[in-house]
Amino acid sequence: MAKFLVQKSAPLRGEVKISGSKNAVLPIMAATLLTEEECTIKDVPALRDVDVMCELLENLGATVNKDLKNNRVNIAAEGDISYEAPFDLVKMMRASILVLGTLLLRTGRAVIHLPGGCAIGKRPVELHLKGLKALGVEINEDQLLRGIVDAKADELKGCTIYLDFPSVGATEVIIMAASLAKGITVLENAAQEPEIVDLANFLNKMGARIKGAGTDTIKIEGVERLKGVSHHVIPDRIEAGTFMVGAVITRGNVLVKNIVPDHLKAVIAKLRECGAEISMTDEGLRVRGDVNTIVSTDVKTLPYPGFPTDMQSPFMALLTVAKGPSVVIETVFENRFMHVGEFNRMGANIKTDGSCAIIPGDKSLQGAQVVATDLRAGAAVVLTGLVAEGTTEVTQIYHIDRGYENFVDKLRTLGANIMRMED
Ligand code: UD1
Repeated sequence: MAKFLVQKSAPLRGEVKISGSKNAVLPIMAATLLTEEECTIKDVPALRDVDVMCELLENLGATVNKDLKNNRVNIAAEGDISYEAPFDLVKMMRASILVLGTLLLRTGRAVIHLPGGCAIGKRPVELHLKGLKALGVEINEDQLLRGIVDAKADELKGCTIYLDFPSVGATEVIIMAASLAKGITVLENAAQEPEIVDLANFLNKMGARIKGAGTDTIKIEGVERLKGVSHHVIPDRIEAGTFMVGAVITRGNVLVKNIVPDHLKAVIAKLRECGAEISMTDEGLRVRGDVNTIVSTDVKTLPYPGFPTDMQSPFMALLTVAKGPSVVIETVFENRFMHVGEFNRMGANIKTDGSCAIIPGDKSLQGAQVVATDLRAGAAVVLTGLVAEGTTEVTQIYHIDRGYENFVDKLRTLGANIMRMED
């Protein structure tokens, strides 16, 4: 199996260009099935999850032309589209569920085996289904008990839907489905993540009428048809946050380019609380961890605009070496502390109790053999490896390949001592 070897490194210095957002591009790719015309998506990151989504769309009958060297994908879903998403692909990526609403609109039916992806909690889809049922979709309850979503609909009708929790995936599936439903849909307690706004912008370019994306109430007026368009994906705020932590944990000085500072408010605020100096320049965010002592701070993850759960493990990496103890509370996923065991192998001595982790801080970490337990946790153990004595060997790095474009090259350009070893 491929692995990373990470050595204690000099402070990261230089500049890094952030790639297009994984979590924005996946729903946008799913949305291309809503038209028979060709869509061009630009700034697409070259990632395993993007490959899987391309394969899924091709399998469903779309023509996909992928040029990831130039970060571009063309998708034309003309002709017959299949209603069944193959299990082999769906099990590789939870985001496959995003085609649920689009398949219903294109074919009147959708059959999807409940998805895999990162093993961070139960990750159910009842909110997606509740929303679709309200729009007039019939769900086969017997199949659901067997882990298969088998949904049918002759026609979708707009209505008011209240989400019990602002689920990102449910919000995206419902927006897509409501775009071509009859009448007006109002989605209350919707997720407000920037990736939702990017999807709504894409759909609106296609001819949809969506208002309020980025707030907790989204109004969608159904239209008759959508057309093919070209779209640039927003930059990846989680990749940006990961490199920002990399700059601070190594006491470095890095210019992080191609970012939207507004999307990073919570991360910027927390890094400043730790003592990092962060300033906006014409070229990007200048992040300095080389000026002050890095001190601890407490963190609680929340839906956007709160502190992102996807930044919890990279930030915890920083807290293991910051001065003083800190508390991290995870409220979005119920099982997202698997990286704690890996940090502890390196000497972090973190204790957890339910959704709460207590990090003593002030630790001199030791390199160890660790596992990338999920996508973000994988990046997090690489960050700790940069400041640990000796060598850190990270396995199961396919998780990292799912979500970080050219991770090793970007880190090496900043001076990190990391290399990838293939089998
Ligand atoms: C998306 C992101 C993921 C991020 C997460 C939260 C993508 C491809 N992935 O995942 O990186 O960590 O948002 O910001 O965009 N839930 C339910 N019932 C449901 C749906 C969700 O209880 O029907 C719960 C989940 O179990 C989880 C929480 O809601 O505890 C958040 O899930 P959700 O917002 O749906 O995350 P994803 O869309 O899967």
